[in-house]
Amino acid sequence: MSKRVALSVLAGIVLASSAGSAPALAAEPIQPIEPAKIMSPGMVELGKKLFFDPRLSKSGFISCNSCHNLSMGGSDNLKTSIGHNWQQGPINAPTVLNSSLNVAQFWDGRALTLQDQAGGPIANPGEMASTHALAISVLQSIPAYVAEFKAVFGRETVTIAEVTQAIAAFEETLVTPNSRFDKWLKGDKGALTNAELEGYELFKDSGCTACHNGSAAGGNTFQKMGVVEPYQSTSPAEGRVAVTKEEADRFNFKVPTLRNVEMTYPYFHDGEAATLTQAVDTMGRIQLGRKFTEAENAKIVAFLKTLTGDQPDFKLPILPPSTDATPRPRP
Ligand code: HEM
Ligand code: HEM
Repeated sequence: MSKRVALSVLAGIVLASSAGSAPALAAEPIQPIEPAKIMSPGMVELGKKLFFDPRLSKSGFISCNSCHNLSMGGSDNLKTSIGHNWQQGPINAPTVLNSSLNVAQFWDGRALTLQDQAGGPIANPGEMASTHALAISVLQSIPAYVAEFKAVFGRETVTIAEVTQAIAAFEETLVTPNSRFDKWLKGDKGALTNAELEGYELFKDSGCTACHNGSAAGGNTFQKMGVVEPYQSTSPAEGRVAVTKEEADRFNFKVPTLRNVEMTYPYFHDGEAATLTQAVDTMGRIQLGRKFTEAENAKIVAFLKTLTGDQPDFKLPILPPSTDATPRPRP
């Protein structure tokens, strides 16, 4: 695509995305993240246990936290994830932090909600490799879990819908407010250095905010990877076309959030960019037709690092022990 066409596409994206938003939000393209409002603390506590429980996997070894490590920005910091029996997955694991702000889940948006998404990995042969029936029989064999499900949902039998609802309720609490950038947005003008501010100006003026905008600085649209120049990748992922079957959606991926991006390396759906410097260089070239100088790149990277917010802060959940009746880990 020529640079001029690319820019008019971007202008269209900006117009389309600003058309429905309230005028008050128009001032800055990125808005602060607000802390989560916890509606059902009991469900969140249960969901937290399930998120950390490797017994939801066939091997008894892999939990959601294995690939979305909450000590490491909700990611695994691997190019592509490692699942059951050391299988190398096809795609990079996006962070679970702020995933409640996404327009849909997965790089191609094939799950609409966090609850829809959460059933997937448990039964995915390349990830946790269990079945919903096996995961339920594990939980049902542990009286402390049965009692906790009953206290939250009011029924004796545990269902997969309850499991995924509780995990989603926990994930909704995984927002990261109070980044230095948010403090600056809220009026603390000393929260950013001059270099970081210059990086933000470059980020806006070059057109990055056409796609990385809103409170998550992304997560709200699907866009072509390779607007100006094609993206060379060895990954088999085709993007959103897998869901819509529309040829126009080939190689469209969900724009990732840039919140906490300094923690969620490596970058892109194939994990090909090892560093933020590399990711910014690629984005500039292939999305905008712009080659940043080293100094410009460093300023944008400095700005991106101000998007790191308060990480989840909670007591590590202690999981109720298995009983004699609990199905044992399997190879
Ligand atoms: C995607 C949650 C287990 C690897 C996601 C997303 C969420 C999530 C919310 C979508 C994020 C986004 O699109 O921005 C969970 C939960 C799990 C779990 C709740 C436990 C039930 C795992 C495990 C692995 C894994 C064990 C690694 C073996 C991935 C990968 C993706 C992903 C590779 C991207 C897949 C794609 O887009 O096609 N996960 N995850 N997840 N997760 Fe997990
Ligand atoms: C991914 C920064 C412009 C759409 C990324 C990532 C970074 C980034 C750091 C990797 C995030 C991750 O993997 O977790 C920037 C910067 C830009 C810019 C600094 C300006 C120079 C754009 C524009 C668009 C866009 C204009 C839309 C036309 C995307 C998409 C991805 C992405 C679709 C995911 C691509 C994939 O993995 O296949 N961006 N971005 N970005 N960005 Fe940008």
